[in-house]
Amino acid sequence: MRILALCAMGECDMNENVLDYDTVAFDEEKQAIRIIDQTLLPNEIRLITLQSQPEIWEAIQTLRVRGAPAIGITAAFGLYLAALPLRQLPVQAFLDALQQAKGYLSSARPTAVNLGWALHRMEQAAQRAISAGTAAAVTAMHDEAAEILQEDIRVCRQLGENGLTLVKPGWGLLTHCNAGQLATARYGTATAPMYLGAEKGYGFHVYCDETRPLLQGARLTAFELSSAGIDTTLLCDNMAASLMKSGKIQAVFVGCDRVAANGDTANKIGTLGVAVLAKHYGIPFYVVAPSSTVDLQTPTGDEIPIEQRSPDEICEMWYAARMAPAGIHAMNPAFDVTDAALITAIVTEFGIARPPYSQSLQEIILKKGRARQ
Ligand code: MRU
Repeated sequence: MRILALCAMGECDMNENVLDYDTVAFDEEKQAIRIIDQTLLPNEIRLITLQSQPEIWEAIQTLRVRGAPAIGITAAFGLYLAALPLRQLPVQAFLDALQQAKGYLSSARPTAVNLGWALHRMEQAAQRAISAGTAAAVTAMHDEAAEILQEDIRVCRQLGENGLTLVKPGWGLLTHCNAGQLATARYGTATAPMYLGAEKGYGFHVYCDETRPLLQGARLTAFELSSAGIDTTLLCDNMAASLMKSGKIQAVFVGCDRVAANGDTANKIGTLGVAVLAKHYGIPFYVVAPSSTVDLQTPTGDEIPIEQRSPDEICEMWYAARMAPAGIHAMNPAFDVTDAALITAIVTEFGIARPPYSQSLQEIILKKGRARQ
């Protein structure tokens, strides 16, 4: 891993707005992936490059790059980098080695379907071009990864346009975790209506749950939204109920890592609680999902694999001194599944799906298929 630039906030001449840096980019000259190391935010904006497969795997696993779409984009360029040195191999050996590299990268994190989705797209791009030889397949993979990145920008913009139809100027919006620009190539998913609303003068008040245990809400969402000049307030996770009761929240917008065919939705741990509260207080709860996150192969939320992370993230990682008894059992599931029944609507780039989701999500995916023809 190579450090490209280091910008400790307040101490450097570089442009310090985190939104001016690409969450994930590809450095053509160096043939390397360039990311913002998100484990250091908001205190340092450090750009690092990733080239080897273990570096890419580690960056995804440790959340240097995170958020479902950004993980997918990184893995796509990662598989291209894996393919580069395989060009000299005979076709079958090339394809076998590619399969192995795909398996390795997809093992970095289990819940976000975008990881497997992007790797599958890359493999298909290679398959389509392989009759012209391995070098042609590698070139096709480069172009596919670049397209996945550009497509994410277009999709997120459209998510924002669609999400904006659900809100009114001046509303208070609550979000959980980071489904922002730092989780995508631009705009974010749940934050896309907020960014587009800001462009159009909607004057939203955005409330960010801090999002225990890794504090994506505090470190990332509050950072990027306030950097964009959006009126942003940070909350402890346990404040959402009283804020909803006080009438300050008119809608909840969250992202997601996987939407099952019946509409059950995996997102950052704590999302389910927010959805239950929103239902209780009659506040609309919107999931913003690029169609790449809709997984019709997974029938319900029960089949979504939930990542279990180290208890250290809860007990000591974020503290000057350990905050829990040594040896204590701690649970650290990184995601929970919000029941479809708690979700008011699922906003996709192909339209807004409403219950019953087993029908409306199928229609969204059919629409996507037609758009591709
Ligand atoms: O563990 P993380 O930080 O990768 O979790 C991210 C989330 O839960 C996001 O809400 C989700 O990936 C959607 S990102 C547009």
